[in-house]
Amino acid sequence: MNILITGGAGFIGSHVVRQFVHKYPEHTIINLDLLTYAGNLENINDVKDAFNYAFEKADIRDLEAMRSIFKKHKVDRVIHLAAESHVDRSITDPLVFVTTNVIGTGTLLQVAKEAWKDDFEGKLFYHVSTDEVYGSLGDTGFFYEDTPYDPRSPYSASKASSDHLVRAFGHTYGMPIVISNCSNNYGPYQFPEKLLPLFINNIIHNKPLPVYGKGINVRDWLYVEDHAAAIDTIFHNGKQGETYNIGGHNEWRNIDLIHLLIKQTDEKLGRAEGTSKELITYVTDRAGHDMRYAIDATKIKDELGWVPSLQFEEGLSKTIDWYLENKEWLENVTSGEYRKYYAKHYEVKL
Ligand code: NAD
Ligand code: DAU
Repeated sequence: MNILITGGAGFIGSHVVRQFVHKYPEHTIINLDLLTYAGNLENINDVKDAFNYAFEKADIRDLEAMRSIFKKHKVDRVIHLAAESHVDRSITDPLVFVTTNVIGTGTLLQVAKEAWKDDFEGKLFYHVSTDEVYGSLGDTGFFYEDTPYDPRSPYSASKASSDHLVRAFGHTYGMPIVISNCSNNYGPYQFPEKLLPLFINNIIHNKPLPVYGKGINVRDWLYVEDHAAAIDTIFHNGKQGETYNIGGHNEWRNIDLIHLLIKQTDEKLGRAEGTSKELITYVTDRAGHDMRYAIDATKIKDELGWVPSLQFEEGLSKTIDWYLENKEWLENVTSGEYRKYYAKHYEVKL
């Protein structure tokens, strides 16, 4: 099979590409990525010379470019991860989320439909989405696969739109599709605009840790390699037309997570316990900040046998170790454009 993975130079995509290249030498993996600020070929340096790997720098919104890539590589199946993914950026600059996540996904679907000439035998369009499409929970309850959509940020609204388009292509044209909606990922190679890598980097450099609002919002954290394994499972064994929720059953209030992060990081840096607590700085809340996300992942467990492999404390420790051992990677991605973003985004908050 020729498997096109979009967004393979980003955080989750790089783990999916690595897993597929190593595990499936009989398949060719084509990584398609525009290399935006979030895409970084260093994330997949270790597979760049693999015989079953190819890279294409291209924009999923570019119809002609997508057509020629589908033709050149005779694409059989797609795993679609390319997206604008950061909620704060979607609040500042929503339109790029609309063009990338909605039009980009629509473009890929249309090109797949044309290339497959409505003969869908052996074909699959797998769309990777987020739990944020379901909205925000109160103190209790979970997101299920049939929870009504209620996206509340430009990011989640654009992902919800893309999910609807994927289902519409499945329903209208009979295209084989599958969708998964996952909770918050953490682990190596995450761009340090997201909570955990941002805070690890700031602890290393003794910079303020900007906690939004009261720090009481809840997220359900999953180690990124477990998400990649779930994607592998769904890709091979998921039922066409279905949706699978993926989550860690691992809910943390932001402030509790931050205290655990500080404890582990201080220890690894040889600092006295609690030293970095003084870096905690409460800042203006995120506009429209969703209070709680929590996934019920019973369906993927019962039907496909997937469960997370790592306990959170272990995953967090591995993650901190990785960032401490890869300071050059952190330094490279936090220079340039990112510094300007950081200064602009946080000047009003800090
Ligand atoms: P990321 O921002 O780290 O990576 C996104 C990748 O997409 C980058 O490599 C970027 O260069 C590429 N890209 C962006 N625009 C593009 C375009 N127009 N054409 C081609 N490539 C483009 O994102 P991530 O955190 O790895 O998330 C990957 C996917 O998983 C997204 O669809 C996201 O919505 C979803 N998701 C993320 C999480 C999470 O916690 N990070 C959880 C659930 C679902
Ligand atoms: O739930 C899945 C989603 O998780 C993915 O779809 C998104 O792509 C991914 O970015 C993530 O969204 P969140 O908004 O939950 O992640 P983020 O790391 O930005 O924030 C996690 C929590 O921490 C959230 O409640 C906001 C808070 N936060 C974040 C930052 C960056 C802070 O308090 N301070 C910060 O500086």
